[in-house]
Amino acid sequence: MTQINVVILAAGNGSRMKSKRPKVLHEVAGRAMIDWVITAVQPLQPQKIITVTGVGAEAVRDHVGNRSEFATQAEQLGTGHAVMQAQDYLQAGATLILSGDTPLFTTDTLAALITEHERTQNAVTVLTAEAPDPTGYGRIVRGEDGMVLKIVEEKDASVTERRIQEINTGVYIFNNDLLFAALSKVNNDNAQQEYYLPDTLDILREMGYPIGAYQALDFEESMGVNDRVALAAANQAMRRRINRQHMKNGVTLLDPATTNIGADVTIGQDTVIEGNVTLQGQTSLGSGNYLTAGSRLVDMQLGDDNVITSSTLEASIIANRTTIGPYAHVRPNSTIADQAHLGNFVEVKQASIGQGSKVGHLSYVGNANLGAAVNVGAGTIFVNYDGVHKFNTTVGDRAFIGSNTKIIAPVTIADESITAAGSTITADIGYHEMGIARSRQTNKKDFWDRMPHKKD
Ligand code: UD1
Ligand code: CA
Repeated sequence: MTQINVVILAAGNGSRMKSKRPKVLHEVAGRAMIDWVITAVQPLQPQKIITVTGVGAEAVRDHVGNRSEFATQAEQLGTGHAVMQAQDYLQAGATLILSGDTPLFTTDTLAALITEHERTQNAVTVLTAEAPDPTGYGRIVRGEDGMVLKIVEEKDASVTERRIQEINTGVYIFNNDLLFAALSKVNNDNAQQEYYLPDTLDILREMGYPIGAYQALDFEESMGVNDRVALAAANQAMRRRINRQHMKNGVTLLDPATTNIGADVTIGQDTVIEGNVTLQGQTSLGSGNYLTAGSRLVDMQLGDDNVITSSTLEASIIANRTTIGPYAHVRPNSTIADQAHLGNFVEVKQASIGQGSKVGHLSYVGNANLGAAVNVGAGTIFVNYDGVHKFNTTVGDRAFIGSNTKIIAPVTIADESITAAGSTITADIGYHEMGIARSRQTNKKDFWDRMPHKKD
């Protein structure tokens, strides 16, 4: 394959999105749309990637960073005008042009387009697709002999042309010299008063150059995102693609249509995931885990054979064979060791929970290191914050924290020590000691009679 240049169009204002965010930064399966485009072209090893920016240029450039060079389109006068802004950046040869709002193209499809272009030696080869519903796309107009004549935008199309189902995907590969020769002849005499890139096909054909089309096998890849309805459709399509891959790898998804797995997530074999589960960011799961509906994991690392029940887990590490939930919340920078258990309504933040330790019910464990086989009774609060500073607590192996203990950090609770239920612990507890800190109960005799009572 010869060396190519890539131009990604991303200067438009995306007005149909009705958003403050530039359109190409809207996310599909957890990645900005333009990231998907860049990821699809990178394996083609282009000698240059030029992104044309305009509306929201700074945000787009910051996001894309050094993965691309940038050209500026100061005024959004159309896709043809946008490509002209990239001219000075391109090296001789062929240029592949894509839009930043078509996130679903695969490298394979783009490579097939390039191969077809090289085989035919066309001046331009456009990637087309047969759309079940072509509304909104440019249509491919062919002559009686089947050869491509031109592309007509929907707004400029006749009634007959609108019936054409073969659409312009917005991906083209051009011979550079001919691209810019044709662009210099494009005018804005059309419904949108824009300089259309697709007009270059008609112009090159009129100039006597061969033009052609390569039809993608799968329309889904061609989906262009102009509004939030299409964004949802693109998300669904991407999710289907990602989920299919995980299922092929040996992951059971019980209701894939409602399972939301980000692009960078890895999952081991024989993990079973119920519907309505979300896995985001740099999350990795080992094998044999079970995640029930309502679980949400962001930037999590899990080992094997954990059972996660309707819980929210963030930026933490969970080892193996733990049971978490229902309704637990593991907040960032926590480490949960093998066979630990976090039960109902337990929140853990920046804490490590040792092997086999149990925090069963209604507790908050913040800024704490718990050893192995610790038992934390119901309603325990690690009081870690004075409004300004955070303080740490250490709890040794096999310590027994009685229910409704308040542990006012900083304190150290030794191995095999105990807190009496209901205590407010403010001082360290030594090995084999019990800390008790609560007022003693007194019973008032005959108090019943001194109480007011309602008469029925
Ligand atoms: C475009 C094509 C249409 C094709 C469809 C495929 C044109 C005129 N039409 O329509 O034939 O079927 O894509 O998805 O090309 N942009 C700029 N500068 C501009 C205008 C647009 O950089 O002045 C960028 C946009 O940011 C976007 C891309 O070009 O990433 C396409 O523009 P958009 O307005 O979305 O074109 P469509 O109407 O979708
Ligand atoms: Ca578009």
